[in-house]
Amino acid sequence: MVGGIGIPWGFLFLWVLYPQLRPINATPVYHLDNLLSIIEELEDQDPTLTILKVAEILRDLQTSDQDLRRLLLGETSVPVVLPRLLSHTNLSFLEEVLNHQAGPLTETGVVLTPDGTTVAVGNLVAGIEAGLKREVSQPLSGVSRDLSAPVDNLCALTLAKDLGLAFLSHHMNKSQELLGPDGCWDSVDSPHVFTGSGPWTPATSALINGGMDGFILGDLLSQFQAPLPKLSSVLRDYYGQVPSLLLPKASSRRKNFEATFDLGNFTSQVLSAVSLLDHLRNNLVLHQLNLNTFRKISEQGVKQFYHSYLECPAIIPRCMWAARPFRGEPVELALPLRYVYIHHTFEPSRPCTSFQECAADMRSMQRFHQDERQWNDIGYNFVAGSDGYLYEGRGWHWVGAHTKGQNFKGYGVSFIGNYTSELPDEAALQLVKENFMKCAVSGKKIVSDYAIQGHRQHRETTCPGEALFNEIRSWEAFEEVGVTRATVETQA
Ligand SMILES: *[C@@H]1O[C@H](CO)[C@@H](O)[C@H](O)[C@H]1NC(C)=O
Ligand SMILES: *[C@@H]1O[C@H](CO)[C@@H](O)[C@H](O)[C@H]1NC(C)=O
Ligand SMILES: *[C@@H]1O[C@H](CO)[C@@H](O)[C@H](O)[C@H]1NC(C)=O
Ligand SMILES: *[C@@H]1O[C@H](CO)[C@@H](O)[C@H](O)[C@H]1NC(C)=O
Repeated sequence: MVGGIGIPWGFLFLWVLYPQLRPINATPVYHLDNLLSIIEELEDQDPTLTILKVAEILRDLQTSDQDLRRLLLGETSVPVVLPRLLSHTNLSFLEEVLNHQAGPLTETGVVLTPDGTTVAVGNLVAGIEAGLKREVSQPLSGVSRDLSAPVDNLCALTLAKDLGLAFLSHHMNKSQELLGPDGCWDSVDSPHVFTGSGPWTPATSALINGGMDGFILGDLLSQFQAPLPKLSSVLRDYYGQVPSLLLPKASSRRKNFEATFDLGNFTSQVLSAVSLLDHLRNNLVLHQLNLNTFRKISEQGVKQFYHSYLECPAIIPRCMWAARPFRGEPVELALPLRYVYIHHTFEPSRPCTSFQECAADMRSMQRFHQDERQWNDIGYNFVAGSDGYLYEGRGWHWVGAHTKGQNFKGYGVSFIGNYTSELPDEAALQLVKENFMKCAVSGKKIVSDYAIQGHRQHRETTCPGEALFNEIRSWEAFEEVGVTRATVETQA
């Protein structure tokens, strides 16, 4: 609204009289930092608020699944009169971020974390409370239907219930995806709206991220001996960029969750969590579905979860690093491919260690490839940062511009940095060598006897750098040009 607009006086009157009717200047910024400031404010106002107390206060602000949480975590202790401690604006921000809702287009109850991923706050906080009260029990003992296994309250409230509901929902409607999707914020600097990259399922990526984080932190806190830190400092450490002595990093959530994961036990937890919910909701969840059928659905579902969220690396999608659009018409790859070509970026020469840095590197490479080289897009299919994430370049389906003459035959995967005399950090190497390769094989993107080569084997270049090239030569799938590996011959 620019200039010369008359003020409707009646409206001004209402504005003065009823502050709650004033439009909020801007929708709140759904960044984790905002949530943490409010939690800190709460903790400062009342120093008796322990981590458990704050987690309970936050639980009381959630509206759905209170019955399940009460059964598994008990009643919350002394109520705190929040409106006395927080402003109306901040209280409603808390209520919003704690209550998850996906659909129709946007997902709410989620925040953007500093590492560029998005988490559902409710599941995160539920994990922390459940960890502090961890219990593996038969909450329905005496009730007719047996649970598949005693319920681990931590597992049930972070992941098992939501995954089970997603498996059921997919069973009812096969044209719906099983899990996910991930999504994108309207702006990374001031995130207001989170939009899905496809139709929502009951287990969105943000719910799964928040659930894994809640599980990891709850599991650690359940074993803590020392005096417990405040909730705000636990979350600042876990999501922050500064290495922490006490806590792992959110960016390694997949690896850390996988370390505690057992396929059979996890499947039993899914069955038990959903059976419990079904009991609480008068059989309206399972709809009399045969338990054997539900078991089969869950076994398949958990395998898919394992593949997509533990085996596969977390990939930061193009929209999150603010990629420009592809120019022209992309050409589709004929999958599965046989090769993966390894590169280093050389420039940028410094490894990026944060989402901000890596995203900026991706944008500068895309600008260079599009504007100077006149390519349609950033050349690589995927790029590995040293921040724990892989970045989507041309992705799984489109022919790249990375290894002249070979672009149709394989994926180009590059490490950000100059690896002439040193190696990428161990986590980045593992991400490509283990996670990317396994993910590509089980997702049928590359053949199981795939081969790895360095850029320099196809071109007059030092890429991927002397040190990195020596490293990949020691990988089992490395292949000299013109020499087919022995393992391949014996399999053929
Ligand atoms: C909300 O909380 C933040 C962080 O503590 C604080 O700076 C801000 O003043 C609060 N907003 C309102 C309207 O009270
Ligand atoms: C099944 O899922 C698809 C994809 O999400 C959706 O378009 C369709 O409306 C769903 N069908 C029913 C009957 O719910
Ligand atoms: C699986 O569950 C059983 C029984 O609860 C337990 O003894 C075992 O340690 C669990 N295994 C793993 C790998 O978590
Ligand atoms: C890459 O690293 C090598 C060896 O450390 C160095 O000589 C070269 O100048 C570096 N190049 C760039 C662009 O940083």
